[in-house]
Amino acid sequence: MIVSNRVPAPRRGAKPEAGGLAVALTDALGRGEVLWFGWSGEIGSATAERPREIVRGRTRWVTVDLSAEDYALYYAGFANATLWPLFHYRLGLVSFQREQLEGYLRVNERFARALAPLLRPDDRIWIHDYHLIPLGRALRRLGVGNPAGFFLHVPFPPPAVVAALPRGELLFGAFQAYDLVGVQTATDAAHLEAVLAAIGVRVPVAPFPVGIDPATVARLAIRAQGEQQVAGIARTLGSRLLVLGVDRLDYSKGLPHRFEGYARLLRRAPDLRKRVTFLQLAPVGRAEVAEYRALKRELDELAGRINGEFGDIDWVPLRWVNRAVPRAVVAGLCRLARVGLVTPLRDGMNLFAKEFVAAQDPEDPGVLVLSCFAGAAFELEGAVLVNPHDPQEIAEALASALAMPLEERKARHARDRAAVELRCARSWAQGFLAALEAAAAARFAAAA
Ligand code: ADP
Ligand code: F6P
Repeated sequence: MIVSNRVPAPRRGAKPEAGGLAVALTDALGRGEVLWFGWSGEIGSATAERPREIVRGRTRWVTVDLSAEDYALYYAGFANATLWPLFHYRLGLVSFQREQLEGYLRVNERFARALAPLLRPDDRIWIHDYHLIPLGRALRRLGVGNPAGFFLHVPFPPPAVVAALPRGELLFGAFQAYDLVGVQTATDAAHLEAVLAAIGVRVPVAPFPVGIDPATVARLAIRAQGEQQVAGIARTLGSRLLVLGVDRLDYSKGLPHRFEGYARLLRRAPDLRKRVTFLQLAPVGRAEVAEYRALKRELDELAGRINGEFGDIDWVPLRWVNRAVPRAVVAGLCRLARVGLVTPLRDGMNLFAKEFVAAQDPEDPGVLVLSCFAGAAFELEGAVLVNPHDPQEIAEALASALAMPLEERKARHARDRAAVELRCARSWAQGFLAALEAAAAARFAAAA
C-alpha cells in the first residue's frame, strides 16, 4: 500500500505530472498488486467514508478530497509554508501557526481512518513525504500492526535548523511508529538520526537515493524527435544551441540566480548571442502560498528584462513557459539540448537531472550543469557542478559546457549514464521494500 499526498490517478484530461514523487513511484510500480491512497487533488466532498476509486490492471487508486479548510491548513499551511521551507534550509521563509499544525495532524488522522479499513493483514505500508509524517502513528493508534515504512523525498536539514520548528517533538516523535525511515542521501540520514536521537526516538534510518527508469526515458526521447511539438522546436532553434531548464516553479529551484547567470553569460560573451536559446519550463503550483506568487512576479520581470536587454527581432534569448508538458516532450527536449541547467539551492534528489542524462544521444550528448546542493550531485560525477548561489559561477559553467569538446562530453555522459542505470526507480523501490521487510521481521521477532 502506497500513501502519498499527491496521487497521479489516471483521469481523463489530467495535466502532465510535474513532481518527483509521482514520477518515481509510477516508474517503480512493479508487477505486484498495489493500492495507492492519497489526496485527489480536489477540494470537494469525496470524504474518507466515500473515497473515489480507479482500478487499472493490478493497481487500485483510492483518493479523498480535502475541504477548503483542510487544504488551507494542511497543504498550503503546515506542509508547504512551514515544513517545505524548513526542510529546504530556508528559515527566513518559514511561517508557523498553531492552527495549521493542528489541521495537518487532523488530516493525517482522517487519512488513517480512511486507510485502516482498506488494509489486509499481509499488506506492507509505504508512506511518502513531509505531508504525511504523522500518518504511521495515527495508523498505529487505530491498531494497525502491518509493516510500515516512510520515505522522505525532500532534504532533511541539520538539527540547528530543525530546532526552529515550534512543537517539533510532536512531529518528529511520530517517526517512532515506522519500522524503517528512508531519505535521499547519507547527509539527510545523519541529520535526521541526530534529531531523532535527541528526543529518544529509535528507528532505523537509511539513505535510498531515488532513481528513474532510464530505458523508458531514452525510448521516449528518441521517439519524440519525430513528433510535432519537439520537431517544431528543433526547427525554430535552427543551428542555435539549446539550454534547457525543467522545474516546478519553486523558490528551492534557484530560478532567479539561474536567470541572472544566463544574463551574465550573454553580457560577458557577446559572441554567444543568437547562438544559444534558453528554454525554461516552470509550471505554477502552490499559488495560495504568498512566496510562490512573489517568485512568479520576480521571474516574469527578470525574463522580461533579459529579453528586453538582449532580444532582437529574430531572437528570443529566454523562452519562459509556465506549463507542464507530457513526459515524452520533456525527454525529447532533453535530447535536443546542449546543456541541461539544474541549479536548485536545495533539492532532495532532482529527478530531472537524471532524466536529462538518460535522454541524451551517447554519440553526441549534452552537458549537465548541476547544483552541488541537489541530492543528485552525490551520484552524477560527470556533471559540471556549480554553487547555485553565485550567478557568475553559473555563467562560467554555462560557457564551459557550451564550448565543451565532443570527447569530454562523451566521457562525462558515460559516467553519469552508468550512475543513472545503477540506481533506477525499480531498484530503489525494491531496495526499500526489502529493507522494510527485514526491519519489520526484526520488530516481530523482538515482540515474540
Ligand atoms: P520535484 O520533486 O521537486 O518537483 P524533481 O526534479 O525531482 O523535482 O521531479 C520533477 C519531475 O517532474 C521530473 O520527472 C520532471 O521531468 C517533471 N517536471 C518538472 N517540471 C515539469 C514540466 N514543466 N513539465 C513536465 N514535467 C515536469
Ligand atoms: O518531490 C517533492 C514534492 O514535494 C512531492 O512531494 C510533491 O508531490 C511534488 O514535489 C510536487 O508538489 P505538489 O504536490 O505540492 O504539487
